Amino acid sequence: SSKPSIELENQQFPTDSWTNLPPHIASALPRKLHLQPSHPIAITRKLIESRFPAATYKPYNDLSPIVSVHQNFDSLGFPLEHPGRSKTDTYYVNASTVLRTHTSAHQADTFRAQESDGFLISADVYRRDAIDRSHYPVFHQMEGARMWSRDEHGGNVAAAVWADFEKLPKHDMVIEDPNPTIHPERNPLQDPHTAEEAEAIAAHLKRSLENVVVEVFGQAKKAAIAAGEAKGDEEPLRVRWIEAYFPFTSPSWELEVFWQGDWLELLGCGVVQQHLPTNAGVPSKLGWAFGVGLERVAMLLFGIPDIRLFWSHDPRFLEQFSEGTINRFVPFSKYPPCFKDIAFWLKSSSSAAGGGVGAGFHENDMMECVRGVAGDLVEDVRLVDEFTHPKTGRKSVCFRINYRSLERTLTNEEINKLQGDVGAAVVEKLGVELR
Ligand code: PHE
Repeated sequence: SSKPSIELENQQFPTDSWTNLPPHIASALPRKLHLQPSHPIAITRKLIESRFPAATYKPYNDLSPIVSVHQNFDSLGFPLEHPGRSKTDTYYVNASTVLRTHTSAHQADTFRAQESDGFLISADVYRRDAIDRSHYPVFHQMEGARMWSRDEHGGNVAAAVWADFEKLPKHDMVIEDPNPTIHPERNPLQDPHTAEEAEAIAAHLKRSLENVVVEVFGQAKKAAIAAGEAKGDEEPLRVRWIEAYFPFTSPSWELEVFWQGDWLELLGCGVVQQHLPTNAGVPSKLGWAFGVGLERVAMLLFGIPDIRLFWSHDPRFLEQFSEGTINRFVPFSKYPPCFKDIAFWLKSSSSAAGGGVGAGFHENDMMECVRGVAGDLVEDVRLVDEFTHPKTGRKSVCFRINYRSLERTLTNEEINKLQGDVGAAVVEKLGVELR
């Protein structure tokens, strides 16, 4: 961050006090896993794309991850105080430029371009986050949208949307969907829409996405049976719609599936807030949008147990997959874990109450130090202890780092060196004092 500019995708960007993009994150930009035909992320993308006719849903697969704060937040109606905008959550190239945190960053521009009635945007997205087997600071999303024009339908699109709904494939999956489409407090209708329009759009949205789930789980089950993992007589798949909130849709939902004992969120969606098409110069259009996490779906489809594997260069991983084929991942080995604790005193200014662990100290900053030193050699990092000194009021925290390579057994010397370097990094970057 002491450099006056950084180069990303052959372009120079000036840096400033907002810049927080470390080299180990910038190095992910050229990977483009969703475009490598035999990579599980690309295979998953194509499987989902196959459920949406390309004539209606135009695919966009190479939009740049470097977007403006306006595209990522303002254009979608994120309030200025939204936590997603903070430096602890988002990678800033500089004060006005970020690495997109979601594919919704391209909604406004794509509505404005008006190249089709719908679209599918697949891309890498970036978020500062915890470290564990299902969280990685870079992942992939697919954004989908479908719009109808009131100009073409006499001022009300409900009948046209229902007609399109009738053309969608039907399925016989049981879906839990206990809430009304519209709830005045929890999930309100937008002023510019009639209840008939919102009901029709919601029905088309839900059916379209349920058809994706039917396809994905059908394929996952076939692959499991082929691998001898399942006999095909287990409990039926449980899928549910729950109410959600996004600044750019209303009403909004999330789709969850019951997987390995827990409800797993696959996607967010809803009826597009009318300010988006209006500001994009297409005020007579209305419809739905969704954003689905591709790693989540790929982990279910291929049985991939750790999100770091997607980034592996190891041929023992990459050579297991081929274009157009869904098969179960065969783990090459589970190498031994090694747990190391690191404890430190927070800066006295950060001992004040509030703001999570301590005001001025954010767990994501700790995560970033660990990733900067040890990269993919860390499986997870957990806060295991917090302590406030009774006399001085100083606060101390202890994190447990689980070092484990996906590719080999780490040596003691190597781990001790990494642990020492993590200690030096937190002292330098976070100004804390090791205990
Ligand atoms: N962008 C949202 C997210 O990343 C998902 C979403 C997309 C929700 C489109 C609604 C509509 O969580």
